Amino acid sequence: RRWQSSLPQLDNADRSDEENGEIDWDNLGFGLTPTDYMYVMRSSPEDLGGFPRGELCRYGNIELSPSSGVLNYAQGLFEGMKAYRRADRGGYTLFRPEENAKRMRYGAERMCMPAPSVEQFVNAVKETVLANRRWVPPQGKGALYLRPLLMGSGPILGLAPAPEYTFLIYAAPVGNYFKEGLAPINLVVEDGFHRAMPGGTGGVKTIANYAPVLKAQMDAKSKGFTDVLYLDAVHKRYLEEVSSCNVFVVKGGVVATPATRGTILAGVTRKSVIELATDRGYKVEERLVSIDDLIDADEVFCTGTAVVVAPVSTVTYQGQRHTFRTGPDTVSQELYTTLTSIQMGLAEDKKGWTV
Ligand code: COI
Repeated sequence: RRWQSSLPQLDNADRSDEENGEIDWDNLGFGLTPTDYMYVMRSSPEDLGGFPRGELCRYGNIELSPSSGVLNYAQGLFEGMKAYRRADRGGYTLFRPEENAKRMRYGAERMCMPAPSVEQFVNAVKETVLANRRWVPPQGKGALYLRPLLMGSGPILGLAPAPEYTFLIYAAPVGNYFKEGLAPINLVVEDGFHRAMPGGTGGVKTIANYAPVLKAQMDAKSKGFTDVLYLDAVHKRYLEEVSSCNVFVVKGGVVATPATRGTILAGVTRKSVIELATDRGYKVEERLVSIDDLIDADEVFCTGTAVVVAPVSTVTYQGQRHTFRTGPDTVSQELYTTLTSIQMGLAEDKKGWTV
């Protein structure tokens, strides 16, 4: 427990719900604003794959062996979640937190790591939100973003699972993910680099899925695009994901999204949007969605915890720019409003999704 006791310890000085004067709530982007506390839990070999006990401590740097599994072999997973401040009855809302817990457990199995139980995960998230409650933005200004991490923190030299694991959650107040705010985004299709391949780890939220997209993303941004849309690595023809979110196309009353099949992350927002669209009478298809389907679509939109539901106004493929419907009376606008009303506690949560 030496590592854990070296963490900055908890004090109650700033655990207040009072309005936080340190921050400009009207101009939150998706940058890192450090908050007061993080949650840390550790699993050592004698814990036999369990996480015996976690604790809140002051947010700060952690000590990590240079030979830790996560630094050397990317044995790590992360999650993304949001807590919203409720206007109606006070308090804070989490959205389907057990889905993130289950996804982390699924990913941990793929990455040969022990993982917290669903109950441990959800309780840790609740504790993190409450300890940092002065950082939850006022309603309508954004959310407190939670970033649960699971990493091989123990030292290892030969390639093998690390001997010790750390589960950690930190939090940051965030606004809109894209610099466009809620305005439609412009994507470019990447057909040289690929995000994932069959049999790889595209379907789990491993940290190793994200650094490889930076090169294409930087290149796209330098050309004025918002982000990159990836195609499958085998046929170079079927849509996969955007760097940080899932993608949907709409044609007539049919909403289609790539089936997950191992290369695509099973997004919690993706799953929720599929259910909400079905409830609202759309035919929803999870299938192979080709680049030709996209070019022929009326609408394109992205979903994710960070991006929520983001309308796409143009997609550029092999130098050709294709334009899609955005704005009021679009399916993406309808789904955005339906979803965020539940998340923020503005509409009745008939599905029991909020905690
Ligand atoms: C999220 O949407 O929460 C994610 O984890 C994506 C991340 C790249 C911002």
